[in-house]
Amino acid sequence: MIAAMSSSSSMTPAPFARWELFTAFTAFIMAISLPLEQMAYHASYTHPMLFITRWIGYIVFSIDFIVRLRRKEYRGSANGNAWFLLDLFAALPVGPVLMRTWTDAPGWLMVSAHLLPVLRIIRTYTLSREWQHQNPATAGIRRIASTLVFIALCTHWIGCWQIAVYDASPETHIAMRYLQAIYWTVTTMTTIGYGDITPDKTNAGDLLFTMLIMVIGAGAFGFIIGNIASFLANLDFARNQHLDKMQRINAFMRYNDIPEKLREQVHGYYNYLWRTRKGFDESEILTELPASIRIEMEMHLRRDIVAKVPFFRGADNYLLRALVVELKPLIALPGEYIIRKGEIGDKMYFIASGTVDVLGTDKTTPIATLTEGSFFGEIALMEKIPRGADVRASTYCDLYTLSRAALEHVITQYPEFGEHVRKLAAVRKGSAPVN
Ligand code: CMP
Repeated sequence: MIAAMSSSSSMTPAPFARWELFTAFTAFIMAISLPLEQMAYHASYTHPMLFITRWIGYIVFSIDFIVRLRRKEYRGSANGNAWFLLDLFAALPVGPVLMRTWTDAPGWLMVSAHLLPVLRIIRTYTLSREWQHQNPATAGIRRIASTLVFIALCTHWIGCWQIAVYDASPETHIAMRYLQAIYWTVTTMTTIGYGDITPDKTNAGDLLFTMLIMVIGAGAFGFIIGNIASFLANLDFARNQHLDKMQRINAFMRYNDIPEKLREQVHGYYNYLWRTRKGFDESEILTELPASIRIEMEMHLRRDIVAKVPFFRGADNYLLRALVVELKPLIALPGEYIIRKGEIGDKMYFIASGTVDVLGTDKTTPIATLTEGSFFGEIALMEKIPRGADVRASTYCDLYTLSRAALEHVITQYPEFGEHVRKLAAVRKGSAPVN
């Protein structure tokens, strides 16, 4: 049922979402006013507002129960029965009926019956969790806010309980007694306890109650501090992850006595990853996505290469999609040989950023320098011959590779792309330096 609710809140039409919000707000008001009413009742005090609020609550919860029944929300899940009972008992005026029909019912039963609608706060809680999931960017702050609200509610409940059960100063005004009870609850919950209001040490019930509040308080505040700490730690999640990874890699290199020069290269690589991608591994994230969203993500992430390769700019949308999904990202380090002359080629490369040198037969003099928007490594694939030259990165390069199989597949569907690549390969093979 909770799962059903999760999907329903994201997919339900706006009016129902607004209604859900309204019932959650009503539940919150009831969670404040019903214990207040019980407290006032035990102090022989009544206020028409408390009575009116209670009946508004019953009406709202009854309408909500009927709406959910008609939407068949309670069917087909194990938790459906639990939600059914919870909503039903929150909507029925069990307390007032009991008071009329069984006048000498035990006190605890009467109080529990009157407080039944407070249970609806569970729905408010699940709704707030839903929102946290739907909007992960503010989940941390929402979590802290809902914890603070929950602790404020607990303080209120305990304060009311304290007056209802232990209050022994009926001559003071009820509002002042409530304030004193809240003051006592807060000081006891924070385990500060100034000692100006103390439990009767000869009364076991008083002592146990005070200790219980202290324990709840210690747990609750520990929970808040923990939440705030994890919220702060996650504020810059990407940087923390990156630093964490760097620490592990440094420890690994120290442990394996990796030479200084190699360490610098590793650092340079990760710094480049951080500068250009904030350390995120694109392919790791993409592989987890369902195909339809993945293609859209890939189209977006690779829009730079599509804009830079002159041929792509004029290509039709279908060809672009066919190509883009086949491209695999690759980073080349400065000085790295991306292609070795004589090798069997199995992929071609597109340059998204950076510069590569195509080296002449002396293996040192560049015969061509290719920059972003160019491609290379196509001759071996088109002509089915070994690589004709060395290609070396002269800076950090962001490349995309296209495998032989993918290239052939795209060419059979879009011969005009094959024609374009073939023409450039023929010019380059003629060995005039071409950019
Ligand atoms: P391939 O032979 O597969 O591998 C080396 C690559 O260098 C080659 O494909 C071309 O893409 C590229 N290349 C070779 N000669 C030139 C040139 N003159 N100008 C630009 N690129 C070239």
